Amino acid sequence: MTPAIPLNDGHSMPALGLGTYPMANDEAHTAVMSAIASGYRLIDTATRYGNEPGVGQAIRDSGVPRGELFVVTKLPGADHGYDETLASFEAARNRLGTDYVDLYLIHWPLPRLYKYVDSFRAMSRLRDDGLVRSVGVSNFGAKHLRRLVEETGTVPVVNQVELHPRFNQAEMREVHRSMDIVTQAWSPLGRGDVLDDPTIVRVADRHSVTPAQVVLRWEVQLGVVPIPKSRDPHRQRLNLDVWDFVLDEDEVVELSALETGRQGGDPDVHEEF
Ligand SMILES: NC(=O)c1ccc[n+]([C@@H]2O[C@H](COP(=O)([O-])OP(=O)(O)OC[C@H]3O[C@@H](n4cnc5c(N)ncnc54)[C@H](OP(=O)(O)O)[C@@H]3O)[C@@H](O)[C@H]2O)c1
Repeated sequence: MTPAIPLNDGHSMPALGLGTYPMANDEAHTAVMSAIASGYRLIDTATRYGNEPGVGQAIRDSGVPRGELFVVTKLPGADHGYDETLASFEAARNRLGTDYVDLYLIHWPLPRLYKYVDSFRAMSRLRDDGLVRSVGVSNFGAKHLRRLVEETGTVPVVNQVELHPRFNQAEMREVHRSMDIVTQAWSPLGRGDVLDDPTIVRVADRHSVTPAQVVLRWEVQLGVVPIPKSRDPHRQRLNLDVWDFVLDEDEVVELSALETGRQGGDPDVHEEF
């Protein structure tokens, strides 16, 4: 059973979930169905992934009551702005075919455009209207977070950022801790690229688990919520099964020492719409 992590608005979120990028609708439907059957309750999608219909259909077909699932989607850059956000969300909600979304995130801050404050105000209204349970962000840097809170008075519950052994986000984790924001990890397996690292393989052998389980367990012990993507039912099951072993402090430090730097976009300059 996946533990729950408390959020700063009184709701809670499963401590590990399934990523769905890049999956087309059919593939997302199959993957989300098998993930839910093996116990996943947090599903991460985004309007930009183009698979909200497949994810939503799987949620309805899964047989698991909607209230037991935690569905995350994200506002694309093209729809930043107050009215645009309201319209974009309504379209996303229709594609998902769900009454409400558990967590709505701003996908990237796009600081040059600087409309994320307007978008966040609209998201807070969606929350007040009961269409969104919790509001959060993704790929925000410390100054974007502070500006958001200064201007709106609302602290996002989550910041979903790139995080894996090659980029452990020590600084942002500390910022999140000080602001009571949960760190969610995208590319938590480094897109699979870190799994043959000799340190990770050695720790995995010591615990008789897979390298992916070691990496996900390391993230859990850092207080981070990983959302590994897998289309494979066997790997999905293993990725969720990280609650019965514990890395010792030295092993946590060893994994944290694999830092080389970010692989994805820099939130200060990355633009995608
Ligand atoms: N907010 C953002 O800007 C942002 C950006 C990127 C991603 N995301 C989200 O984060 C999710 C996860 O990130 P990601 O997909 O980039 O990378 P990831 O989860 O780190 O890695 C996924 C890759 O690892 C493979 N894999 C999964 N489990 C494995 C295992 N146990 N052993 C070996 N290989 C394994 C998968 O292949 P198989 O499918 O074949 O198993 C896939 O190729 C995305 O799906 C998306 O939902 C968000």
